[in-house]
Amino acid sequence: MKRSTMIMISGIVALVLLIAITLFRDDGSTQTGPSELGPAAPVDSSMCIASKEYMQAHHMQVLDKWRHDSVREGNRTHVTPDGRHFDKSLQTCLGCHANNRFFCFMCHQYANVKPTCWNCHLSPMESSK
Ligand code: HEC
Ligand code: HEC
Ligand code: HEC
Repeated sequence: MKRSTMIMISGIVALVLLIAITLFRDDGSTQTGPSELGPAAPVDSSMCIASKEYMQAHHMQVLDKWRHDSVREGNRTHVTPDGRHFDKSLQTCLGCHANNRFFCFMCHQYANVKPTCWNCHLSPMESSK
């Protein structure tokens, strides 16, 4: 093999490696949901994605919007005003609220609401330990 060919091949190999590394890094940084990162994620779990008052009144709209964005628009990352990133998924809610597996249920039972979400989505009673 000619020397120039060798140099060209090693050049191409280096380029491919570089592209591969860049692609993998990009992929990692777009998947910033706590469900991906696991419990060690640098997320303040003492705060909801919005104020308690807002969540009490509007969590259904939040979930509805998340579903639309995620499924229809492919926009899966929610950024809070204080700069925290969350995966737009029911699992994100359950991830934080898992310490009380009846969190959603008790309140809904009390308010006599029956979301049909758990017909398809993993129920918090099943997903948490
Ligand atoms: C008929 C079955 C079905 C029902 C009922 C249902 N979903 Fe979904 N949902 C899906 C499917 C399928 C997806 C797509 C999953 C994906 O893209 O990974 C999805 C995706 C979502 C997502 C975005 C991604 C994710 O993994 O969470 C949200 C948020 C969501 N649904 C919320 C809800 C809420 C809130 C309810 C109840 C009001 C509900 N869904 C009821 C089937 C259902
Ligand atoms: C990063 C952790 C975290 C995530 C993610 C999260 N929550 Fe919360 N949530 C909390 C904490 C902590 C509180 C209690 C806030 C307080 O007392 O000020 C709370 C409060 C709430 C409340 C009010 C409860 C009450 O007792 O009045 C609702 C409703 C709620 N969250 C629903 C949701 C839903 C729905 C999602 C997903 C769209 C979600 N949360 C995602 C941590 C989280
Ligand atoms: C503090 C009480 C409370 C908590 C905690 C709570 N919810 Fe709700 N939720 C309600 C009330 C009340 C409604 C009905 C509001 C309305 O219809 O305007 C509701 C409605 C919903 C709806 C819309 C249902 C429908 O049929 O339109 C969804 C979806 C929902 N909640 C998901 C959740 C999830 C997921 C959690 C747990 C992460 C949760 N909620 C925790 C009180 C609560």
